[in-house]
Amino acid sequence: MINLKNRSLISITDYSKEEILKVLEIAEDFEKDQRQQILTKNVIASLFFEPSTRTRLSFESAVQYLGGSIIGFASADTSSVKKGESLKDTILTVSNYSDLIVMRNPLDGSARFASEVSPVPIINAGDGANQHPTQCLLDLYSIKKTQGTLEDIHIALVGDLKYGRTVHSLVQALSLFNATFHLVSPDSLKLPSAVKTYIKNAGLEYHQYTDLNEVIPIADIIYMTRVQGERFPDPLEYEKVKNAYILENSMLEGSKPNMRILHPLPRVNEINEDVDSNPKAYYFQQAKNGVYIRQALIAAILGLKS
Ligand code: CP
Repeated sequence: MINLKNRSLISITDYSKEEILKVLEIAEDFEKDQRQQILTKNVIASLFFEPSTRTRLSFESAVQYLGGSIIGFASADTSSVKKGESLKDTILTVSNYSDLIVMRNPLDGSARFASEVSPVPIINAGDGANQHPTQCLLDLYSIKKTQGTLEDIHIALVGDLKYGRTVHSLVQALSLFNATFHLVSPDSLKLPSAVKTYIKNAGLEYHQYTDLNEVIPIADIIYMTRVQGERFPDPLEYEKVKNAYILENSMLEGSKPNMRILHPLPRVNEINEDVDSNPKAYYFQQAKNGVYIRQALIAAILGLKS
């Protein structure tokens, strides 16, 4: 029996394979009918201590399409954190005003901490370089939609595999679905060992590359990522790798017919705009899928869908 009611979502590893598939199934229902008025008695809080366009606005959109109310802030500068209030006090206060808290914070582990002190469930909307589980669910939804399955996918993850939290969550999730991982990064931005352990423990294969061209003919999914400049301790190190990979349309000849390009966005330079009109570019539809996934999560955690 799958029951996500009143459970925080902090890491994608908090959900089993069956629970992940249940969220995707509920999201499909919202894709068919996005305006189900099931949230009219609920208030959702959205606390963003770090910049966001897609995650924050797709959560807001999800709540509003469902007839709910949303409160919160888009920057720590407009909250009492600016006056020195602790995260614990902020969460305890906002839990008085809402049924569910969505939080993004630059500190790794902050979402887990918030869930330990909060009387209402927390959804992690990204904590530092650690986890981005709701992005992961929409990435999985996008893979399933474009490939017809989540099983046995060859995925190329390209760019900042060290600081990219969306990559960490996605590798952990796809380790449940017999994926083969093609990891393309500069030496300084390789996937952390702790994340590779999930692949090894699942008995799956990963291959490491520095040349993006090598993976283009073999990938079902090319998952491009931005180099996360804000996480580098040394700005000079960022300058060395910031343009390590730039995908251009001419490079896609020879890619599989089913191949699709994903990117959690925002992009900086890593996908040339000439790729946007290629039918294999899927990143803006991917962002749209985020609304259905976030509707599904909110509904499941509030016990309104199961
Ligand atoms: N993908 C993602 O997290 O985008 P935002 O930073 O714009 O929310």
